[in-house]
Amino acid sequence: MKSFFTNKPLFKIAAAAILVLPFGNTMAQTQSNVNMNAFISGLMKKMTVDEKIGQLNLVTSGMAITGSVTNNGVDNGIAKGQIGGIFGLYGVENVRKAQELAVKNSRLHIPLIFGLDVIHGHRTIFPIPLGMSTTWDLDIIQKSARIAAKEATAEGLNWVFSPMVDIARDARWGRISEGSGEDPWLGGKIAGAMVKGYQGTSLKNADAVMACVKHFALYGGAEAGREYNTVDMSRLQMYQDYLPPYRAAVDAGAGSIMSSFNTVDGIPSTGNKWLLTDLLRKQWGFKGFVVSDYTSLSEMSNHGLGDLSQVSALALKAGLDMDMVAEGFLSTLKKSLQQGKVTQAEIDLACRRVLEAKYKLGLFDNPYKSLNAENEKKDVFTEENRKAARLAAEHSFVLLKNANQILPLKKSGGTIAVVGPLADNKRDMLGTWVIAGEWEKSVSVLEGIKHVVGDNVKLIYAKGANITDDTEFMKRLNFGPGMVSLDSRSPEDMIEEAVKAAKKADIVVAVVGESQSMSGESSSRSDIDVPESQKKMLKALAKLGKPMVIVLFNGRPLTLTWENENAAAILDVWAPGTEAGNAIAEVLFGNYNPSGKLTATFPRTVGQIPIYYNHKNTGRPYTDGPTKFKSNYLDISNDPLFPFGYGLSYTSFGYSDVKLSKTNLKGAETLTATVTVTNKGTYAGEEVVQLYISDPVASISRSVKELKGFQKINLQAGEAKEVSFTITPELLKFYNSQLKYDWEPGEFIIQIGTNSADTHNAKVKWLK
Ligand code: BGC
Repeated sequence: MKSFFTNKPLFKIAAAAILVLPFGNTMAQTQSNVNMNAFISGLMKKMTVDEKIGQLNLVTSGMAITGSVTNNGVDNGIAKGQIGGIFGLYGVENVRKAQELAVKNSRLHIPLIFGLDVIHGHRTIFPIPLGMSTTWDLDIIQKSARIAAKEATAEGLNWVFSPMVDIARDARWGRISEGSGEDPWLGGKIAGAMVKGYQGTSLKNADAVMACVKHFALYGGAEAGREYNTVDMSRLQMYQDYLPPYRAAVDAGAGSIMSSFNTVDGIPSTGNKWLLTDLLRKQWGFKGFVVSDYTSLSEMSNHGLGDLSQVSALALKAGLDMDMVAEGFLSTLKKSLQQGKVTQAEIDLACRRVLEAKYKLGLFDNPYKSLNAENEKKDVFTEENRKAARLAAEHSFVLLKNANQILPLKKSGGTIAVVGPLADNKRDMLGTWVIAGEWEKSVSVLEGIKHVVGDNVKLIYAKGANITDDTEFMKRLNFGPGMVSLDSRSPEDMIEEAVKAAKKADIVVAVVGESQSMSGESSSRSDIDVPESQKKMLKALAKLGKPMVIVLFNGRPLTLTWENENAAAILDVWAPGTEAGNAIAEVLFGNYNPSGKLTATFPRTVGQIPIYYNHKNTGRPYTDGPTKFKSNYLDISNDPLFPFGYGLSYTSFGYSDVKLSKTNLKGAETLTATVTVTNKGTYAGEEVVQLYISDPVASISRSVKELKGFQKINLQAGEAKEVSFTITPELLKFYNSQLKYDWEPGEFIIQIGTNSADTHNAKVKWLK
């Protein structure tokens, strides 16, 4: 039984030299690598086969169990050297006990590594990753990871299962909430920022955690958006659209990577040699270790690859170093060695990589390096951290609609009806991955509004609807205790109460959408509307003809056609984290002017999925005119409701035409593309100026456009700024049918604008 939300400790209880690497590579090594290799070789000489295999075993403590397997006898296992790391255990006292067992009681005193799903904050919860991505602010994103690392290390952790960098083009998939959306270029930038934030300036620092990039690879490509489903795509699509963020994380120095549950080219990732060795290590030069996902090793049997012994041997040979929870390595590898199914060298290689991670983290120097009870008290959930979480949340909100400038709301005078099941609600503020986050400490929307307006505005609250009235659906949402419940009143009575409140008000603020467990792992939905119970309430309110502002909670793009037609304004707040209510109120009342931009396309209906901006043209593209025999639907437009990169502001921005420094270029020349952006409204505001490039003639069919740059600028009312992008041939490169990454000469269209569907364009000819 998965329990992402538990926070009760259940577990009671370690000068340059030249080196020729495996695969024949040669590279300059630093003295510290030489020292590391010497140390680990010395240690491994003393290790028995059992002890080596023990290092490959990652167990859960039971504090945060995410699957059906539990591990008993963890203490015993540690002392016997059968465990290399624990995940799900935190708190200085708990971690110290486990580490002491390893360091004092195991024969070779090898410390353990302690991991956890710290995904969007540890104790101070930041917006869900999809929300962090809509900030388009790499500093804010890197800082959030730094703060999470500080809080996590203060509680004894040294390894985090983040960043999740899976590209997703299907909003039915619940884990779209955990990634950075659909764009590989932006995804790569965010992946790099997260890795740098977590790992800091040196992994040896007491406040650094090792990042674990996941889920390698292509996990977001699950067919039909159904969790854990088959992934099947061409190599070209992998290289061009899905692999870049993993690569960017590796290039940023990520210390570890997690294999995914799905198959890649028909072979489960966890046992896929092409993926884990040829691509990851030989092509990309990854030097860290690979851990499986939760029981993904034993799940290879369900994929049809053989029994536990067979799949364990396969995975080891493919390049998997650590087995999360399945205990396939622990229980089968020794026998497989005796039978000649695996070699000693293969076991040694995996063991070496796990030990190297511990060495890089400085655990052999000081296994207790971050175990400091003082830090645990002073570095966690601080006022400063909460402020950073609030700032991130404010920047993450996307204003989807704002008719007649209804927002921002006035801070004094009048009456506001604050209605909806997410209005006076703390639990659902935090979002999907919050193992150590305490929802009781989060700020509800109603509280936040009160903090901002005090007594200056009259507020009338009504819950108005259950999150859902569907009891079967509710059961599925409630895999933990007390998450979504039915009100004792009938749905009709609740709606009536909301209508009454609205009748007395000048403006209605309806806080609706998805609860915490409606997105995230194992939370696929085939219908991505606002749940029916809440929609009924919205429809009843709309009939009153009062201006209605929707504050929308969602872990994925939703289908919002009705809401877009009937609400005056829609502010998409994702799941904003600990400071939710405060951040929302700051934005609603104009203390912060929203600047978030979508990183995932919002479809009109589920039938348009998969829908993404960087699609191909097709042989019969539809633009306008007669529709017959063109690529389109009989019943709906091809266009999304809200395109990638979209987001409004309380002000409006005007764009000039694009000025190019040259229109004919050759070879490694540099092009400068400039626009002037003018703040044409009455509020100061931030704008994310986006650069896209099209390559209309090439040796393969290219995407209609690709994001290649952005700048977030701040403009006072009336102010104008020139924004320039430097374009080199590097930005023109793509993978051709031989999977060679290069650019081809010809014409390119440089597009700059406020979102992917609204750009100013200029053509350039670039020859080799
Ligand atoms: C998830 C991973 C997670 C792991 C450990 C799995 O079910 O797919 O993202 O890191 O559990 O909790």
